Amino acid sequence: MRTRQRLVRTAFLTAAIALSWGNAGKTGDPNVPDPQALERTREQVRMLDTLYKNAVVSITKNYVSQQADVPAAAVAKDVFEAMKSGKYHNARLIDVTGRPKNKENVAKTDFEKAAVEAIRSGKDYFEEVAVVDGKPVLRAATVVPAVMEQCIVCHGKREKNLLGTIVYELPIK
Ligand code: HEC
Repeated sequence: MRTRQRLVRTAFLTAAIALSWGNAGKTGDPNVPDPQALERTREQVRMLDTLYKNAVVSITKNYVSQQADVPAAAVAKDVFEAMKSGKYHNARLIDVTGRPKNKENVAKTDFEKAAVEAIRSGKDYFEEVAVVDGKPVLRAATVVPAVMEQCIVCHGKREKNLLGTIVYELPIK
């Protein structure tokens, strides 16, 4: 009898969970974004990350050879600012070494601090879903290693070759 009751309860629970997943995003609850929209947003993060990292590496390879040169990070910051004022997404390049080139580039929000911890502990990706102004957003952080010799020229040699993380916040829609 006991086993039977437990089985029935498990069946009910499973059905309830299945229902709530099935309804995700259709309930109008911003805390439960539509899974397909979430997947599309993750895809956008992957695209932006590839774009930004290739731009930084290409700029560095072609134009940056010494400490006195303008770093690609400065260009990335300008582009991030343009994306932000266009209300497309927020992105920040931040330090994970504890010794940033620019003190402004340290983790500030709770998510950024958690991302730095995750990246330092060996993860190459970290994310959370949150709600901003009543709307769902995806926050994501990707690893920024010293991928070429020039990075080390300016930043010095760092533990596990890690320099930073790019932290994104995109609307899920
Ligand atoms: C010419 C020197 C130079 C080179 C080369 C360079 N950086 Fe930087 N980097 C800087 C400076 C200066 C800043 C601070 C920019 C700012 O915020 O104004 C910075 C900022 C950063 C930051 C943000 C954290 C911090 O230290 O302020 C990361 C992460 C970073 N760079 C990664 C890289 C990577 C990866 C490469 C190689 C692809 C690279 N950098 C090459 C000079 C350089």
